[in-house]
Amino acid sequence: MNTLSLDVAAIKAEFPLLQRQVYDQPIVYLDSGATSQKPQSVLDAMNQYYAEINANIHRGAYLIAEQATTAVENSRAALARFLGASVAEEIVFTKNATEAVNLVAHSWGRTNLREGDVVLLSTLEHHANIVPWQQLAADQGVEIRWIPITNEGRLDLTDLDALLDGVRLLAVTAASNVTGAMPPLRYLADAVHAVGAKILVDASQWSPHRPTDVAAWDADFVVLTAHKMCGPTGVGALWGRRDLLDAMPPFLGGGSMIQNVTFDGFTPAEVPTRFEAGTQPLAEIIGWHAAITFLEGLGLEAIAAHERDLTAYALRTLTERLGHDLTIHGPSSVEDRGGTLSLAYRDIHPHDLSQVLDQHGVCVRAGHHCTKPLMKVLGVNATTRASLYLYNDEADVDALADALFAAGEFFAF
Ligand code: ALA
Repeated sequence: MNTLSLDVAAIKAEFPLLQRQVYDQPIVYLDSGATSQKPQSVLDAMNQYYAEINANIHRGAYLIAEQATTAVENSRAALARFLGASVAEEIVFTKNATEAVNLVAHSWGRTNLREGDVVLLSTLEHHANIVPWQQLAADQGVEIRWIPITNEGRLDLTDLDALLDGVRLLAVTAASNVTGAMPPLRYLADAVHAVGAKILVDASQWSPHRPTDVAAWDADFVVLTAHKMCGPTGVGALWGRRDLLDAMPPFLGGGSMIQNVTFDGFTPAEVPTRFEAGTQPLAEIIGWHAAITFLEGLGLEAIAAHERDLTAYALRTLTERLGHDLTIHGPSSVEDRGGTLSLAYRDIHPHDLSQVLDQHGVCVRAGHHCTKPLMKVLGVNATTRASLYLYNDEADVDALADALFAAGEFFAF
């Protein structure tokens, strides 16, 4: 039975890995929050780069070097369109979202923040959007302040005005990788801008699932990663407002990022080259373009609708099937919530639980999900996390419910 808006059977057929079996049964992949699977078109695009136009970019004066350069710059333009950015030069390719946050913390943070300034973080943040700010705080005497969460795992904005006192930057996730909560970004951006501060949005868990529009958010910086949105590992991006990027010094030094080098020093290149030192992950950047084409082919609104319906089904089914033995850490309705379901089942340790689920072919993540401050507030050391994506359907949720039930039986003895 599939009452969802996407044709999941047809979509699954495009993902080679989803054809395989584990332990003589079909794989049920519910760990897309950690990394998504990749469609054949993405694998083909990377292979084609290596087979047909493998050359370094912006350097060679020969045909395949020009073709590789064009392919990479086309990917930059596609990502800019995908994010609602006004110009492609506002896209900086990085290794991942983590590196993009580090870039902003090192370059913008060390240029603009002084002792006593405040960086406001939310309790929902991934370590990637915490540690670079803590490093900055240690170096510059910057204060870190935290937005608390409600019992449902959403941001508690009751005292936002007081929290914003002295704030120069808010760094906040667009979607929690634990509770699935999706903070009200435009509301936050307006509040932050009203006190003359900037907002950095971590869109790693958002951009695979919902239409992204950096202009509608009125963000100043947005970071994201390819591998959670059907693209390859090894490439992410920073989008930044052009005037901010233009005023920022380079982060990493080396080849490509200079205009000139002498015995005495160097002059940095223009944006975005200034921030792209060394040879970039060219095949991966080109593979990311194929992933964007794939997602846009399905339609981001259609993906969002599919996931809302599937998440509602999962919340209902898991609660009905497993009752009070199951806790779902996060909002109980699908309003402003993604399909990330952090679970506690009876008192079974998440690692034990995930191992039993694995025996049923069900892939989930167990652990602190790189959110140790959030775990502390939730009062747990770890959760078992199932995360839904465009290639999941009700049968996958049913398989999760069956496997949880079986784990309960297994650990009852
Ligand atoms: N940040 C990824 C996750 O939440 C790895 O699983």
